[in-house]
Amino acid sequence: MNSVLYTGIQSLVTNDESLESGLLGEIKNAALIIENGHISWVGTSSAAPEADQSISLEGKSVLPGFVDSHAHLVFAGDRAAEFSARMNGESYSAGGIRTTVAATRAASDIELDENIARLATEMYRSGITTFETKSGYGLNLVDETRSLRLASQHTEDVTFLGAHVVPEEFSGRADDYVNLVCGEMLDSCAPYAKWIDVFCELGAFDYDQAKAILLAGIESNLQPRIHANQLSAGRGVELAVELDCASADHLSHLTDKDIDLLANSGTVATLLPGAEFSTRSPYPDASRLFAAGVTVALATDCNPGSSYTTSMPFCIALAVREMKFSVEQAIWSATMGGAKALRREDIGQIAVGKSADFVVLDAPSYQHLAYRPGVDLINQTVISGTSIYRSNK
Ligand code: NIG
Ligand code: FE
Repeated sequence: MNSVLYTGIQSLVTNDESLESGLLGEIKNAALIIENGHISWVGTSSAAPEADQSISLEGKSVLPGFVDSHAHLVFAGDRAAEFSARMNGESYSAGGIRTTVAATRAASDIELDENIARLATEMYRSGITTFETKSGYGLNLVDETRSLRLASQHTEDVTFLGAHVVPEEFSGRADDYVNLVCGEMLDSCAPYAKWIDVFCELGAFDYDQAKAILLAGIESNLQPRIHANQLSAGRGVELAVELDCASADHLSHLTDKDIDLLANSGTVATLLPGAEFSTRSPYPDASRLFAAGVTVALATDCNPGSSYTTSMPFCIALAVREMKFSVEQAIWSATMGGAKALRREDIGQIAVGKSADFVVLDAPSYQHLAYRPGVDLINQTVISGTSIYRSNK
């Protein structure tokens, strides 16, 4: 297999701590070599060895591909009218999920598959090279199972979220639904999933129900993650830490105790600024998490209700402007942070041996992602050494 040298990179973000050049391990005037889909050399252009092929990226910058550790791509329809009503003063509630459940159940496999593919393509265009996706709009055995089966054709990070909300037909019988999720539904879904998730929230599942569901998933060899503290400060973080969830997501309402628990755990705090944006909710202050030493990830939460965006650059800009991330913290959280939230060692860094997943920016440095909000700066997205998206500019 050919080796390819990318050279003349004005600014390269490596996330390699051993370089001791700040949080992002930045190298100026950099080069990298890829071979067999992996990074085989990283350094300055002037020190680069020869390769079979050489590509100049003069004036451009390169960073690890974005890792979107939280998305809900398996659904049909949209909720634009609900969004408009919110912008006119309505408030967001978990109940809106049921609208998408009806549309998803009515959709064919082909329609659902095309929707996942369409959103995955949008993600690649925004520089995302790895994404997780959840079920959660089927909420019965057949529709949850097919959601996961379809998702598993697009990503290896597939999450069973049968416990998104209690579906209409189980109204007033939440515990019966929990039993179904923990029993037959889990048995049918587990072969297609790697993760199990639950929406632990008022109007969704409480601490005890969420715990029963995550424990059942663990029993079936799924790894736990959780939607916690989105609409209120409940016991979601406590549960995440207790069960060593890979990640606790949303965290819009955090007590000091929650932050303390996260700081002393292996659970990543995943913040989802698209959800605050789209529900017009107050943004959490990430500087509290960073000050305590919590590992933070940023993700899109792409879904038709609370965050219909596939743009990681948009989330980075929001995180910097509204959530008190430094630009460097936001870039790290959207790359390494996401990799840690998915417990993946092979991605999130540009270092020897890692998968050659990276983004080329039409900009001299990573700062431009937040400094030039709303501007499409993605020149190229590369996954395992293969260019999956290239702009026409
Ligand atoms: O992550 N919080 C729960 N689930 C989604 C929202 C889903 C919806 O409103 O359709 C979220 O924001
Ligand atoms: Fe979500």
